[in-house]
Amino acid sequence: MGCEAVAILPEEMSAERFEWLKEVNAEVIATPGCESNVKEIYDKCWEIRKTRPDCVIFNQFEEFGNCVWHYNITGHAINEAYNKLKNNQSSLAAYISATGSAGTIAAGDYLRTQHPDIKVVASEALQCPTLLMNGFGGHRIEGIGDKHVPWIHNVKNTNVITAIDDEDCMRVLRLFNEKKGHDYLLSQGVDSEVINNLSLMGISSISNMISAIKTAKYYELDENDLIFSIATDSASMYQSRLKELSEAKGDYNDINAIKDYESCLMGCRTDYYKELSYTDKKMIHNLKYFTWVEQQGKEIADLNALWYDKNLWHQQFNQMERWDELIEAFNDRTGLLKNL
Ligand SMILES: Cc1ncc(COP(=O)(O)O)c(C=O)c1O
Repeated sequence: MGCEAVAILPEEMSAERFEWLKEVNAEVIATPGCESNVKEIYDKCWEIRKTRPDCVIFNQFEEFGNCVWHYNITGHAINEAYNKLKNNQSSLAAYISATGSAGTIAAGDYLRTQHPDIKVVASEALQCPTLLMNGFGGHRIEGIGDKHVPWIHNVKNTNVITAIDDEDCMRVLRLFNEKKGHDYLLSQGVDSEVINNLSLMGISSISNMISAIKTAKYYELDENDLIFSIATDSASMYQSRLKELSEAKGDYNDINAIKDYESCLMGCRTDYYKELSYTDKKMIHNLKYFTWVEQQGKEIADLNALWYDKNLWHQQFNQMERWDELIEAFNDRTGLLKNL
């Protein structure tokens, strides 16, 4: 489109993210702090709005395009996968999503239309449990948990909030990516093909997996209950983190593997796991006020509509055809379609 791209992200995020952005030719602005310092990004956006008035800001925390995409694409993909896996005893019991901007969790809104009893579980870092207990803090599960409730999170559709210790995620990251970890998993009967693919899971994917184990235990699920989740990125984004862990804790050995497997996976319990009542959901929704109305200048009427307007979410999620028409028309105008 001939636009200049600018990406804004916290300076303490992994080196691989910054390298990748350089590769796609984006100008990168690093704001102070770690993963959960999103307010600093918003401040930068306001500065840019004032100094570069021709810019268009895509804030993934407030753009409905984000959750609409996941409703229509991720949601449908999961349902297709479920239809291939199911037998006549199966149910799609739960969908787990560690929430950052709350785009991915919207797949659960689609899945609810197909499986009304599904449990939609939002998970976050125990070190920053904003949804669970209005908590705050820095953590190491990159991509999630940003000390506020995203505008586009349809909280009414979330059944459970759980919080995962980032230390467990970092330990499992090592277990899944170190030779001694693989050896131990093999000795425990894990299929070698599965082991070879464990590097497809990044830190938040591991957090999702631990949340899925908690969900299975809490709801006493069995082999007929299928749980779906998303591996949002892979360990390729965290090779520098693995190196830092080796430098800080020493080389990964058999004892580390046994401890991490037993405590973080087999020993996973249902602590920090909360089923939401109507009032709990409203409390989470109400937290949006402080970020979006007081800080970011949204209207109270729009905030109320997110909670009270019975058609709003349905309309948002079901406008793909119109968007496709607009995209086609735009591409036609620019001449792009003729070149394809
Ligand atoms: C690695 C990673 N995990 C999880 C998420 C959370 O997804 P969402 O922002 O859709 O809630 C993100 C989001 O950017 C991410 O980058």
